[in-house]
Amino acid sequence: MNGTDRAARIEALLAEMNLDEKIGQLNMVSADLSVSGPGRRALPLADISAGLVGSVLNWWGARDTREIQRRAVEETRLGIPLFFGFDVIHGQRTIFPIPLAEAGAFDTTLWERTARVAAQEAAEDGLHLTFAPMLDVARDPRWGRIAETPGEDAFLGAAFADAKVRAFQNGDLSRNGNLAATAKHFVAYGLVNAGREYAQVDVSERALRDVYLPPFRAAVEAGAAAIMPAFTDIAGLPMHAHRELLFSLVRERWGFEGVFISDYSGIAELVNHGVAADLVEAAALALKAGVDIDMMGFAYLKGLPGALERGLVSMAEIDVCVRRVLGLKFALGLFDDPYRACAGDVPDFATRALRRALARESGARSIVLLKNRHDILPHDAGHGTLAVVGPLADARHDMLGPWCALGDQDESFALLDGLYGRWPREWILHAPGATIDTTDETMIESACAAARGADCVILCLGESRSMSGEAGSRADPSLPAAQLALAKAVMALEKPVVAILFGGRPLILPDWLVEASDALIAAWFPGSEAGHALADILTGVCNPSARLAATWPMAAGQIPIWFGQRPTGRPADAKEMYSSKYIDAPVEPRFAFGEGLSYTNFLLGDPQPDRAVLQRGETMSISVCITNAGSRRGRQTLFLFTRDPVASLSRPLLELKGFRQIDLDAGETGTVTFELAADDLAFTGCDLSSVLEDGCIEIHIGFSARRTSLRSAAIELKTSTDATA
Ligand code: NOJ
Repeated sequence: MNGTDRAARIEALLAEMNLDEKIGQLNMVSADLSVSGPGRRALPLADISAGLVGSVLNWWGARDTREIQRRAVEETRLGIPLFFGFDVIHGQRTIFPIPLAEAGAFDTTLWERTARVAAQEAAEDGLHLTFAPMLDVARDPRWGRIAETPGEDAFLGAAFADAKVRAFQNGDLSRNGNLAATAKHFVAYGLVNAGREYAQVDVSERALRDVYLPPFRAAVEAGAAAIMPAFTDIAGLPMHAHRELLFSLVRERWGFEGVFISDYSGIAELVNHGVAADLVEAAALALKAGVDIDMMGFAYLKGLPGALERGLVSMAEIDVCVRRVLGLKFALGLFDDPYRACAGDVPDFATRALRRALARESGARSIVLLKNRHDILPHDAGHGTLAVVGPLADARHDMLGPWCALGDQDESFALLDGLYGRWPREWILHAPGATIDTTDETMIESACAAARGADCVILCLGESRSMSGEAGSRADPSLPAAQLALAKAVMALEKPVVAILFGGRPLILPDWLVEASDALIAAWFPGSEAGHALADILTGVCNPSARLAATWPMAAGQIPIWFGQRPTGRPADAKEMYSSKYIDAPVEPRFAFGEGLSYTNFLLGDPQPDRAVLQRGETMSISVCITNAGSRRGRQTLFLFTRDPVASLSRPLLELKGFRQIDLDAGETGTVTFELAADDLAFTGCDLSSVLEDGCIEIHIGFSARRTSLRSAAIELKTSTDATA
C-alpha cells in the first residue's frame, strides 16, 4: 500500500470512529504475565472487545496474542487490530548481557546481531514493539537503571542507539522478525537527583543538548518508531507534559514521525507531580505536549472526554494522535494481517543453537578484565583444584540480569556450570560462603575450608539481579557486608584469588579487595550463557576484549563521576591545598572509562593526522600504529578523544569522537584510522546555538580515558572559508 492509499484509509477509519473508539486507540493496557509497574492487573477483556484498547503490554505467546487479537479484530465495531509491546531489553528468550555490559564490547556489529535475535524471538512470541533501546546517559552508579543504559557517554549512546534501532526494525516493520523500537526514556532520566529512582532532574540547557539529547537524535535519525518520555521532570516540568521538548524539538525540529508512548502511568502521575489537579488536566497536558499513547494510566480513557468538554483539548488534537497510532499499525502490517506475528513460528534446533552461541560470544565480549597480576589468568582448563566460592558462583537466576523478558533460569548457566564442563567435578570445591544480600556470616567457614584445599580461589561476588534495574537505586553501591567479610576471610588464606564481580552497575570496592585479588573481573550480568562465557574467559578460549562503558568510582562521594568533566580554575594538585580535590578520597576513579585488559599487551604509536589544518566542512583522517607486543592474538579497542583547550566556553577535558577495534596476532602491527569531521567539533555555544570555533584542537588516542594511556597530537581548526583568512 502506498502512502496516499494508507493516508486515505486512515482518514476513512477516523471518519467512522466515535470518541470512545478514538480514545481507545490511545489506550495501552498491561496484562499480568509480567509486572513492570505498580499494581497488578488482568487484561480488561471487555474493554478490548468494546474497542476501548489500542495496544497491550506484558502479554505474549503466539496463541495468546492471537486470541486477544481476535477479540479486537472480530468483536469490535471497526475491527482495528491491536499491537503488542514488551520490554525486550537484552533478549527475549535468549538473554544477552545487560546493555551496560554489551556497550563495553564497543562493537556496533555485535550490538546489531544481538538485537536481531531479540527481535526475531520477540516476533515469534507474537510481539510487535519493544520498549528499547534505553538511551539515558548515566553517570551515577547509585541509579539502578544504569544497568539498562549504554553507559556514560553521549557519543557511545548515539552509536548504540543507531545500531539497536536499525537492527530491531530492520528496515521494514511489516516483515516477520522485525520489531518496532522505542527510544527511552526521553530525556535526562539518568540525572535523577542523588541517583534516587524517579526523583527530580535539573540539567543545564547546554548539557541537555551536548550530552543527553544526542542518543535520542540518533534514534530518530535511525527511524525509531516510538519514543517514551521519562517519568521525571526537568526543572519542574514533567517530561509527560514537556511540549517544548516533545513537540517543538523532537516532533517539529527533528522531524520525528513515530508515536510518543507514555511510560507506565506517566500521564496519570502528572497529578502526583503537582502540575495537574485531576486526570482531566493530566490528559490535556500530555496530549498537548504530544504524547500519543497512554500506557496503563487510564488517564486518556478517563480524562480526555472531560478535557474536551472543558475545552482543554480539541477533537482535532485527538485525531492527530489517533492518526499516528493507526499509521504505526499500518506500518506494522497489521491491517493486512492482524495475526502476522501469531503464526507460532518455532525456531529449529540449529537456529536455537546459533542464538545460544551468540549469547556466549556476546557474554564473553562484555566481560572486563580489570587486573591480572603476574598473568595469573588464563588458567589452563582442567588444571589444579579450584575453590569456587561466593554467592554468585551458582546463581543462574541472577546471571540473566534485570529486565530479562522470558529468559529462563533453567536454561541459563552459572559459572559453576561452565567450569564443570572443563574440570573434573571432584577438582571443583564449591561453597557459597555467603548469601547475596543478607548479613549472615555463618557460612564463611565452609568457603574457607574449600579455599584451603584448592590451588586457586574463584571468588564470585556482587549483586542479585533485583538490586539494579528499575526501582533498584542504592544509596551505597558497594558490596554487601557479608560478602566483604567472606572476601576478607578468603583473602587472608593467601591463596591465588580471582575475584569476579557481578552486578548491574560500577561497584565501590575497598582498596584491600582490589589489592589482594590477583585477578579482578567485571562480569556484570552476562546473560543465558554466563557460565560458558566466563569459563571461556578464565581458560583463555576467549581473550578478554571488553572495556568499561562507565567509570568505576573509588568512593561513593565521587559520584557522579565520568571522564568528560570540565577543567576547574584550580585543577587538583596534591601539593596545593586550594585545589579541586577531596581531603578524604582521591579525585581519580578506581577504573576509568574504557579500561579493560587482555591476555596480551599492545603498544601504541603517535596519532598521525593527515593534515595540520582542518577547515569547516572537511573531514580528516587520523591514523595510528598499534602492535600486539604479547604472545597471543588479541583485540584492542582504541578511543579517539578531542579537547578544545581554549574556547569561548570551558570545554570538557576529553570528548569521545570515535572508537575502533583491531584484531592482531602476536607480534603483528596494524594501523587504525579514524575519521574526524570539522562538524564533530561543534558545541553548544554561549547563545545556545551550535558553534564551531577557530583554534587548536588536541587529538588524543588511547586505550581508555585515563590520561596516561593517551598518545597525542594537535591540529588547527579553521572555520573561515576565506582562503586568505
Ligand atoms: C516502566 C519503565 O520505566 C519502562 O522502561 C518500561 O518500558 C515500562 N515500565 C513498561 O514495562
